[in-house]
Amino acid sequence: MMEIQRHRLVLITPPFQGHLTPMLHLATVLHSKGFSITVAHAHFNSPDPSNHPNFCFLPLFYGLSDTHISSKNVVDITATLNTRCVSPIKEALIDQIEKANINHEKIACVIYDGLMYSIDSVARELKLPNIVLRTTSATNFLTYHTFLQRQSSGWLPLQDSMSLDLVPELEPLRFKDLPMFNSCDIQKQIAKTVAVRPSLGVICNTVNCLEEESLYRLHQVYKVSFFPIGPLHMIAEEDSSSSSFVEEDYSCIGWLKKQPKQSVLYVSLGSIASWEEKELTEVACGLANSKQKFLWVIRPGTISDVSEWLESLCKDVRVAIAERGCIVKWAPQGEVLADEAVGGFWSHCGWNSTLESLCEGVPMMCQPHFGDQRVNARLLSHVWKVGLEWSNVMERNEIEVAVRRLMVNSEGKEMRQKALKLKNEIKIAVKDGSSYDALNRLVKSILSMNL
Ligand code: UDX
Repeated sequence: MMEIQRHRLVLITPPFQGHLTPMLHLATVLHSKGFSITVAHAHFNSPDPSNHPNFCFLPLFYGLSDTHISSKNVVDITATLNTRCVSPIKEALIDQIEKANINHEKIACVIYDGLMYSIDSVARELKLPNIVLRTTSATNFLTYHTFLQRQSSGWLPLQDSMSLDLVPELEPLRFKDLPMFNSCDIQKQIAKTVAVRPSLGVICNTVNCLEEESLYRLHQVYKVSFFPIGPLHMIAEEDSSSSSFVEEDYSCIGWLKKQPKQSVLYVSLGSIASWEEKELTEVACGLANSKQKFLWVIRPGTISDVSEWLESLCKDVRVAIAERGCIVKWAPQGEVLADEAVGGFWSHCGWNSTLESLCEGVPMMCQPHFGDQRVNARLLSHVWKVGLEWSNVMERNEIEVAVRRLMVNSEGKEMRQKALKLKNEIKIAVKDGSSYDALNRLVKSILSMNL
């Protein structure tokens, strides 16, 4: 019999920007550790194979369409995805096992995104070692467990009057920060997510120095191994290729280079959240009145005609945008945050944006929209103290005041100092600290399952 030469990993990702990007970073890291890589993905919102010539890509029909995705109903999309992806993924895995045998390889492990909880039973049935990649914070995952544990002790139904109360086990989170607050559909999905028991454990895109206590508590309740090897974009530093679904507009980097140090507020709500036209107008007026410079991402589809909307703004605001602003459809966010001209980030607090900002020492103005974003915002403002909590009222005066608090006032300066300190701690964790150690532990675990 021929000796098995290589271990192949099959990574399975859903068609969302905030999930595909960390999965590709993980693939890059594990490839650098000697594994062969296959990335299974949806037939749309696909990665560009030419950016990763060393990987095999496997486009699959998950049973979702891009119009389904554009409905933005994340809960419904997740439920449909988990029902419809099972049989195509099972067939693809069986095929991969056969191909691996022919090529004297072995499928050493299936790594799937935490959103795709239904893969758990597929991997189990095919007797493949498996790992879940959690692309949100460990604290967010902990809220799922705490919620389920407490379901029987009087938490449900959550009353609106409790929304500002602190959750006893999860302070400083309030009930209203919980991602499942009063949504039965989300609660059902959370129960399914928590029921998953990956044989090799959970990879978390986080760092010990940010979430040590949550990681410790998760390990205690979940009783599988945890590998906090993040931030993945930093640990995969050799991977500078883009996985953006929308083409990045690099003209904004040229614009940033002409701006003074820490003078620009970067404004972006990631790939799903958005403001309505009325809110966009309040943002434009608030930014103009704050007298600060700003780089603003307005994604395609946010508004039917951006030029027409800009024309409809009053003259003073148009002049302010022309003099102090730069608007793009999609920015190379990593490079933007790394540019010394950027002094703050007005963000929806998606976990990737949060990590990217922390890694560059940029303080944030928090405006969570849904799901894990409220947890992240609370961590930013009340635990790491590098995020500004403000009224979140989409009214120009409120916006003006909040922007100035972050960019001009002493509280913004203090947050910037704290952010720089965290940046250094994260750097150390990645270079030869906790994330570096967790990665080595992960590689050993995968190999030891395949001896
Ligand atoms: C989603 C959820 O909303 C988020 O809460 C969860 O943590 C991950 O999945 P998304 O809303 O897109 O993600 O936010 P985020 O996690 O911040 O990811 C956005 C990604 O798009 C980041 O990696 C960011 O760098 C990138 N991006 C965003 C760009 O490259 N350019 C842009 O102009 C805007």
